[in-house]
Amino acid sequence: MPLTPVITAHWDDPDCYTLEGYRRTGGYTALAQALKTDPDEVIGTVKDSGLRGRGGAGFPTGLKWSFVPQNDGKPHYLVVNGDESEPGACKDIPIMLANPHALIEGIIITCWAIRASHAFIYIRGEVPMPIRRMERAVAEAKAAGFLGKNILGSGLDLEVVVHGGAGAYICGEETALLDSLEGRRGQPRLKPPFPAVAGLYASPTVVNNVETISSVPYIIKNGVSWYREMGTEKSPGFKVWALSGHVKRPGIYESPLGITMRELLDYAGGMRDGRDVKFWLPGGSSVPMLLADHLDTPLTYEDMVAAGSMLGTGTPMLFDETTSVVKAITRWLEFYKHESCGKCTPCREGTFWITGTLKKFEEGHGQQGEIDELVEICNQIMGRSFCALGDAAATPYAPSLKFFRSEWEAALTQSADEAFDPAATMIIPSMSGVGA
Ligand SMILES: Cc1cc2nc3c(=O)[nH]c(=O)nc-3n(C[C@H](O)[C@H](O)[C@H](O)COP(=O)(O)O)c2cc1C
Ligand code: SF4
Repeated sequence: MPLTPVITAHWDDPDCYTLEGYRRTGGYTALAQALKTDPDEVIGTVKDSGLRGRGGAGFPTGLKWSFVPQNDGKPHYLVVNGDESEPGACKDIPIMLANPHALIEGIIITCWAIRASHAFIYIRGEVPMPIRRMERAVAEAKAAGFLGKNILGSGLDLEVVVHGGAGAYICGEETALLDSLEGRRGQPRLKPPFPAVAGLYASPTVVNNVETISSVPYIIKNGVSWYREMGTEKSPGFKVWALSGHVKRPGIYESPLGITMRELLDYAGGMRDGRDVKFWLPGGSSVPMLLADHLDTPLTYEDMVAAGSMLGTGTPMLFDETTSVVKAITRWLEFYKHESCGKCTPCREGTFWITGTLKKFEEGHGQQGEIDELVEICNQIMGRSFCALGDAAATPYAPSLKFFRSEWEAALTQSADEAFDPAATMIIPSMSGVGA
């Protein structure tokens, strides 16, 4: 399947991130079109396109917008989720760096559709570059009359605020993000009510991922049939993939949904040093691992579930045979333990217990009974936590045990560093190749 650069089409242009560069390649023409269309019709177009949220859950975007009550007399808000803190996820930051105006154009169209006059872009605090780039792009758009009062004579007034977080993975969870944006400690809220009904400042709020909103102008400009020609019935359209791990050319690739991991891997030059894939994860550390046998499974929401995993954020991480499964799982669980917000007991205590046990396995003195005990602890967290961070923490271990039990059993007597060369197993998701 060929690559189909859409959001990434002009990333090689030195000025792709400027207003001028964006307009030269057709930028802001979708906006003019959308502002002449009834807002409900815009929602209908996005619904018909079948665009699904790229933040991990794949929820239908147009449907989410349609949940916002109309004529309720309350302000409506759009919040763009640019927190992107999951291990392996690295697509939204490159999108904001290389194509910030597609995001702004998408924001204006979305706000027209959901009748919002304030939008917020919440960006991970540890990465100042996209914050600065988005601030500059917002200023450019405002100076050009695309933001502010009565945009292009449509009657739409819109202000966009770029907000830097303070560096917590949980603030990517949409309700924790809203609490953080309101100035409180970022912890998830009880749902329902969902943000579309009571979100920011208790008003109807749409929370969407950076890539989701950046896709909107292209759908409006090129139409539903164009979009649906790519992908499958349940997973239509194009997708920005961020490949990391032991591949020759890690980086950003864009194609229709339904491409296989093997095809993407070919585009990335294969595995480093001609080695084989040992395991891979389609969308960040929160989704179950798959094996080389799954390389020919189409990367769609439905096929990944059928294969026993999830598409997640669509940021595949690939690991070769030099990788210790025990070490990889331990690193991820250390992350979840550190990032657990502590609000609920299964996640707060469970991630602590799992990590402690995993560390023993990593050092080569796990105990026989603990191999299955860990499954039980994960089962006690899964579905019993207040938010999906707990589920994510409970996800990696069981598939690793199913596929690599012998490695866990070897860790009863041998440390991961004795079994695998520590220099070879360094897992560093790379940004090199961004813009390829
Ligand atoms: C712990 C946790 C972290 C999350 N981090 C992000 C994130 O960084 N970016 C994101 O778009 N969604 C993240 N999500 C998902 C959001 O809660 C939400 O579903 C998403 O922003 C909705 O946008 P979408 O419909 O466009 O996918 C996270 C969820 C959880 C549970
Ligand atoms: S599951 Fe974890 S992150 Fe989510 S509310 Fe509970 S303690 Fe906090």
